[in-house]
Amino acid sequence: MHDGPIGMFDSGFGGLTVARALIDLLPGEDVVYFGDTDRYPYGPRPLEEVRDFALQITRLLVERHDVKLVVVACNSASAAGLDLLRFEFDVPVIGVIDAGVRAMLSATRNNKVGVIGTVGTISSGAYQRAVQNLRAPVELTALACPGFVEFVEKGETDSDQVHVLAERLLAPARHAGIDSLLLGCTHYPFLARTIGDVMGRDVVLVSSADETAFEVRAILEETGLGRRTPGKGSHHFISSGDVDWFRQLGRRLLGPELDDVEAYSWR
Ligand code: DGL
Repeated sequence: MHDGPIGMFDSGFGGLTVARALIDLLPGEDVVYFGDTDRYPYGPRPLEEVRDFALQITRLLVERHDVKLVVVACNSASAAGLDLLRFEFDVPVIGVIDAGVRAMLSATRNNKVGVIGTVGTISSGAYQRAVQNLRAPVELTALACPGFVEFVEKGETDSDQVHVLAERLLAPARHAGIDSLLLGCTHYPFLARTIGDVMGRDVVLVSSADETAFEVRAILEETGLGRRTPGKGSHHFISSGDVDWFRQLGRRLLGPELDDVEAYSWR
């Protein structure tokens, strides 16, 4: 029986929103998180390149860390490579897009919904397809928000500059009369205060983090892969960029579980 850790990855700090939900829901599981901070942001890159990055990181998690399941805690990488990862690896691979769509559909009352994400995610059409596949009777406004990720990676989540950018980028969502807005990039929950201020009180902000954690729990139960060793799980973090910065900002964003950070170099 496989009692290895759950592997997760993102271009940087964004996937920590999913890690938080996962650690809270499944405190007994070991987690290995890879933040590809050396190569962020993924959003402006061609999908093929992001797909290659996703393959490399998943291979590392499976081969070196013997993970039993992989969470692609990044919308851009999910949009670019989820199907391929599922084909290439024997372990279950879970993305964040379907989970986010489910959460968004259960939040809306007026059936006018919005999703914001990176240029890569939005232009891939992954969200538009996921909504269509469910035949959900909703009107979807999909918007790219270039620049948001960079603010989060700098640790700037509540500044005047990010507010000004949000006012500009979110204007079409405000005018569309939506009542729920899916944060279709795992970095964006860290900007929730700013995004919430701009969208106003009547718009519910939805993230995929909790729904993804529930999906992981369901798969562990179905497959019998849940951790057998009793006690609290261990949490190991790997960064391809500046490890001290990863520990410092990551701790602020995730909490005290982020302590053990290993450096990894692609070069
Ligand atoms: N957090 C990622 C996402 O959910 C990637 C953002 C980026 O690196 O551009 O899309």
